[in-house]
Amino acid sequence: MYKEHQSNEIVHTAIATPNIALVKYWGKRDDKLILPMNSSISMTLGEEFNTRTSVLFTDRIKEDIFYINGERQDLSNKDVIERFTIIDIMRRMAGRDDRVMVASENSFPTAAGLASSASGISALVFAVNAALGLNLNEKDMSIIARQGSGSACRSLAGGFVKWEKGSRVDGADSHIRQIAKADHWPDLIDIVVIVSSSKKKVSSRSGMKQTVETSTLYKARPQYAEHMCAEVEKAITDRDFESLGLLTIRDSNNMHAVMLDTYPPILYLNDVSKEIMLAIDDLNSSEGKIIAAYTFDAGPNANILTLEKHRGKVEKAISGIEGIKKLHVTKAGSGPRLAGEGESLIDASILKIKRTE
Ligand code: DP6
Repeated sequence: MYKEHQSNEIVHTAIATPNIALVKYWGKRDDKLILPMNSSISMTLGEEFNTRTSVLFTDRIKEDIFYINGERQDLSNKDVIERFTIIDIMRRMAGRDDRVMVASENSFPTAAGLASSASGISALVFAVNAALGLNLNEKDMSIIARQGSGSACRSLAGGFVKWEKGSRVDGADSHIRQIAKADHWPDLIDIVVIVSSSKKKVSSRSGMKQTVETSTLYKARPQYAEHMCAEVEKAITDRDFESLGLLTIRDSNNMHAVMLDTYPPILYLNDVSKEIMLAIDDLNSSEGKIIAAYTFDAGPNANILTLEKHRGKVEKAISGIEGIKKLHVTKAGSGPRLAGEGESLIDASILKIKRTE
């Protein structure tokens, strides 16, 4: 039996979104604190894809409880361990030791091949920050999120975001900085091309470790990526699509090249991904300039950046490719936000999750 509902216990709910890296993070200099070898830049996506997370700290339960998409999770599951790394850091900061109930839901199927960890972790940090009254700013929240999963830290801000690699051994200077807000470049869109929904065979975590340990080509990447960050930041600030497009394509290709140079080799792109690359390249050649840019994270699904006025041409260019399952169009989103009581996933009075369907 549960103790009676304490009226001062409030459920806090946050909504956050994934991000797509334009200069990729691939390789750590500290595995435990998750400190990257190079800085990276991403665009936080709109709410078409989002994670909603509700948290309730209470002494009415004896152990932590975590639900993802309505299913109670085993606390030894890898994704849940990542999330408790974060909760434990924040509990310590607040000097609290009460248990937590968490319920999290993705607006997109986890199996859609889209990274849900960035939106999941950033929503969690945002909700826990509010629930524990920590009052942290986005920079401080990014330092915590980074320790759950590196790329997640970039989803703590909206628009265009740089994760500064930092140089301190304690990671205090490895945090995000917003380059530009979501409304900085209103006609820039991202066409998310779903190619596969199966789970990747090699996780980013173990894949990047193998790359750092074995790839000869990788030795040149950290310095190159730092240079790319400076160029990409400038292209974003100037709203210079041709430059941004070229840099985005080249950085994605560079990361996938060092993945292939890893031993044993890591191959996330499949034949459909390669056809998309070639179709975009053909389109840019026939236009005589870069009007679309593809980028791939640790999987075969493409993100194609383009300007709203070229959307039809891009969709036409890839329309004949067999194996494309679905397209979603999004643009820069404004980052995490707190949601109202009506959007909560937890019923505090009976300590149960609410059914949303
Ligand atoms: C290819 O952030 O998932 O998406 O820090 O080990 O959790 P961990 O890795 P993760 O790696 C993401 C790599 C990437 C590139 C990027 O988003 O920058």
